[in-house]
Amino acid sequence: MKMIILERTKMFMTLSVFLLLIINKSLALENGLARTPPMGWLAWERFRCNTDCENDPDNCISDQLFRTMADLVVAEGYADVGYEYINIDDCWMEKNRAGNGNVVPDRKRFPYGLKSLSDYIHMKGLKFGIYGDYGNYTCAGYPGILGYMKNDAASFASWNVDYVKLDGCYADPSDMDQGYPEFGVHLNQTGRPMIYSCSWPVYQIYAGIKPNFSSIISHCNLWRNYNDIQDSWASLESIIDYYGDNQDDIISHAGPGHWNDPDMLIVGNFGLSYEQSKTQMALWAILAAPLLMSVDLRTIRPEYKAILQNKKIIAVDQDPLGIQGRRIYKHKGIEIWARPITPVHQTYYSYAIAFLNRRTDGTPSDVSVTLKELGLQYPKGYRVEDLYEDVNYGILTPETKIKVKVNPSGVVILRCNVEREQFFTRSHVLSPFLPLNPAFNVRDNTFE
Ligand SMILES: *[C@@H]1O[C@H](CO)[C@@H](O)[C@H](O)[C@H]1NC(C)=O
Ligand SMILES: *[C@@H]1O[C@H](CO)[C@@H](O)[C@H](O)[C@H]1NC(C)=O
Ligand SMILES: *[C@@H]1O[C@H](CO)[C@@H](O)[C@H](O)[C@H]1NC(C)=O
Repeated sequence: MKMIILERTKMFMTLSVFLLLIINKSLALENGLARTPPMGWLAWERFRCNTDCENDPDNCISDQLFRTMADLVVAEGYADVGYEYINIDDCWMEKNRAGNGNVVPDRKRFPYGLKSLSDYIHMKGLKFGIYGDYGNYTCAGYPGILGYMKNDAASFASWNVDYVKLDGCYADPSDMDQGYPEFGVHLNQTGRPMIYSCSWPVYQIYAGIKPNFSSIISHCNLWRNYNDIQDSWASLESIIDYYGDNQDDIISHAGPGHWNDPDMLIVGNFGLSYEQSKTQMALWAILAAPLLMSVDLRTIRPEYKAILQNKKIIAVDQDPLGIQGRRIYKHKGIEIWARPITPVHQTYYSYAIAFLNRRTDGTPSDVSVTLKELGLQYPKGYRVEDLYEDVNYGILTPETKIKVKVNPSGVVILRCNVEREQFFTRSHVLSPFLPLNPAFNVRDNTFE
């Protein structure tokens, strides 16, 4: 159904808007990690806190589950397209610390200890992530790091952990400005580089505290801004809305080494249709989001696996500029999202453009717009391709009108590369942050 119809219009390009390019120069956490958004597999959304290995041995949080997922990430081709981290979430610990204050993995479910699991994951060429909580307890009631920061950082390092997610249950959010950086210092002092994922801003936002993002950026590689994702389209929509509605406040915080985290990919589970799954993958790429699959890789259906392994969309997510995209149009259920990406020619960015249909009226919506109306003004044109349909549309000038058919709750995502082969001498400056233009000349079939 993803068809694009092109026609030339007689419109001439008006003068480009000269906008200053603002480059985010904030001090970032310099541990050399997460130069692009981390990719991997994370247990939580799909396997939650299932600790019942007696009755449900194949699905409980256990050594076996993580070894199996590591095997499949390699064997099923996920590693080849960039998925790298195998991350434990909550519910891996014993309820009590050892006499020396150290946290202990559950003795029944992780009988060989975490160093053994970590070695296995590394032997597969992958990386190992773990979970802790800045507070007295984890969200599921296991030991938190308060009072034991040095012990826990040392334990993580001794297990050759590569990635630490630090949750924020059972903590006072007003302490977090001091506590999250403090644990980061302990991680740093172990000498082992570990990605540091913080839930710091989301708990502060819940508590009515305005997060200090300059501090968050300088201490964390990624952070959660909003609710945990649940296995439903409603949950996914609420996250998409949050990132769109708050984009002016949060986009500039993203960049190499420091990312906004809209939470896990739920593609391949129970709650999203095929179209909705394509929407999550496309939007996560626009948002420069970490790509952490939370799905049972033993049973995922091939069409969902193909979404997760779409190399062209992954390339958008992993674009080296690390500029987070934004919603540039929202009207009557149709949204357009755009992300500036490489290649950059002169001062013109290439773009990934996602057309999203939030309507439920049961038939695909036609959206027609010129590239120029989307803010793509490079006069020599863009090489345009559809990232799901594997169709290349050749070089289109800014005046070209494109028409996309977007399925209900689905998406069309295009990559528009500045056409570098042609020489261009004028130096127009195009902001990577496209203005929201309510007078957008977007037409859709339902309301015409
Ligand atoms: C954590 O535990 C300590 C010691 O029992 C207590 O003083 C503190 O109030 C607790 N903090 C929170 C946020 O519950
Ligand atoms: C610790 O922090 C310093 C200063 O930011 C940085 O250069 C170094 O790479 C960090 N080391 C680790 C292991 O994160
Ligand atoms: C934010 O944190 C930084 C330290 O990282 C501090 O210098 C600054 O004053 C804080 N800003 C606010 C508004 O508290």
